[in-house]
Amino acid sequence: MSWLFFASLGLQGWLSRGYDNGAPHSRLPPLGWSSWVGLGRQWPGPEAQAPEFDFCDEASVKLSVDAFHQVGLYDAGYRHFHLDDCWADHERNASGFLQADRQHFPNGMKPIVDYAHSKGLTFGLYTCAGTYTCVGRRPGSKGHFAEDAAVFAEWGVDVVKMDWCFTEGMEPEPTYTAFSKALNATNRPIHFNMCEWGKEKPWTWGPAVAQSWRATGDHVPLWSDTKRVIEERTKIPEEYAGRPFAWNDMDMLETGNYRQAAHANGKTGNMTKVEYRTEVSMWAILASPLIVTTPLLNCSKTDQILGNFTSGSCRPSITPLQKELLLNKEVLSVNQADTAPGRLVKDFGTWRVYSRLMGDISTAVAFYNPSDTKVFASVELSTLGWPKGSSASVRDLWAQKHLLNTFERFPTVGSVGIEPHETLLLRFDRVSELVV
Ligand SMILES: *[C@@H]1O[C@H](CO)[C@@H](O)[C@H](O)[C@H]1NC(C)=O
Ligand SMILES: *[C@@H]1O[C@H](CO)[C@@H](O)[C@H](O)[C@H]1NC(C)=O
Ligand SMILES: *[C@@H]1O[C@H](CO)[C@@H](O)[C@H](O)[C@H]1NC(C)=O
Ligand SMILES: *[C@@H]1O[C@H](CO)[C@@H](O)[C@H](O)[C@H]1NC(C)=O
Ligand SMILES: *[C@@H]1O[C@H](CO)[C@@H](O)[C@H](O)[C@H]1NC(C)=O
Repeated sequence: MSWLFFASLGLQGWLSRGYDNGAPHSRLPPLGWSSWVGLGRQWPGPEAQAPEFDFCDEASVKLSVDAFHQVGLYDAGYRHFHLDDCWADHERNASGFLQADRQHFPNGMKPIVDYAHSKGLTFGLYTCAGTYTCVGRRPGSKGHFAEDAAVFAEWGVDVVKMDWCFTEGMEPEPTYTAFSKALNATNRPIHFNMCEWGKEKPWTWGPAVAQSWRATGDHVPLWSDTKRVIEERTKIPEEYAGRPFAWNDMDMLETGNYRQAAHANGKTGNMTKVEYRTEVSMWAILASPLIVTTPLLNCSKTDQILGNFTSGSCRPSITPLQKELLLNKEVLSVNQADTAPGRLVKDFGTWRVYSRLMGDISTAVAFYNPSDTKVFASVELSTLGWPKGSSASVRDLWAQKHLLNTFERFPTVGSVGIEPHETLLLRFDRVSELVV
């Protein structure tokens, strides 16, 4: 079997496309940021002073667009900027159209969208298929699909996420299909992200109507939950794993979130660095959209509590942990490979090997240890689909350094230790002559 033939196996099913309507930054998994837990007023302390859910206003959004660049997201390749359930007014306007929250966006949504576009970003808004939105209890799109699609197009929106709260008696497939048609009828190419939490196998019918869909329930920054999302995603049959313009969304990255994560599902994050590294590694190799949700602004304490973003006290900022985990271009390249998504290739019971072909001579490999004990791992290169007699140069993508060269097996002799909850993310590059 020639190497080229072997490499082409990983491209089977990959060349067919999902719903390509010309929406920007949708052919590969979207890389971006969402306001979800990123803009709420910072938690000032006691429970009684809990912050507003999913807050946004004109000043905080514009500053976050700037900060998107200043903290390095744009340089690392991120392009999507999404507002979640924070932006809409509690009343439709007199003609029945959605409008931006009149207090928080006195100039409406259009200037905000224009501002994001002027900074090179792809702009997304949120709505809900049912009567109300999930946490903001804002107007849902039920009964207003044509008007809502029209107003998104009028403002120049590039991405619409549609949630699934307050949908009693409704069915996901016909509902999302109808909204997709309404978006299509506007003639603006809009990326449609469906959010029915993977209930009705959206990967089977999604590729005809949407560019991405939530494959799993909401993700919160607890280890048990991260493990659950990886488990649910792994169970999706390989033929539905994703292809251009058709992505299984494992929900937002909560990397480095602690107290501010409680803005959303009420769960204060408590994952370790090793666990957050597993989150990013597995989202990357499984070709999930990587939508970061974390504050990009560090404001004075008073302004944080007041949610006053206009005072000039806010500085663009993410933590050193977030810089390390979210801006690593070698790790991001595993997510952005132009090949079929990664898959489970060997389950050793307590730990697993996932791999993703990255091109003619490269394979990304994740050694994932969800167990609570250290394991000692090794793998035959044939398990990765490599021909007999292969040698590889092995690179550690988190450390960004060459690890060793290996022949037929990794490592050639012995094993590597993987800590509890750790994922080792490596890239194997074929070498024609073994140089050990
Ligand atoms: C509308 O749907 C057709 C058929 O799927 C597609 O070719 C076209 O790009 C879509 N246009 C927009 C603006 O979504
Ligand atoms: C409601 O919003 C729509 C869409 O932006 C607009 O065309 C219409 O004029 C607005 N109606 C009123 C009464 O402001
Ligand atoms: C993290 O928080 C969850 C509940 O919020 C708790 O069950 C779990 O034990 C905590 N984990 C650690 C390592 O503290
Ligand atoms: C915000 O900035 C202050 C002052 O520089 C610093 O002490 C604090 O740790 C920062 N907070 C975050 C979340 O980065
Ligand atoms: C926000 O800060 C600005 C500038 O310091 C100030 O003028 C304004 O009164 C503040 N607003 C609130 C609600 O505190």
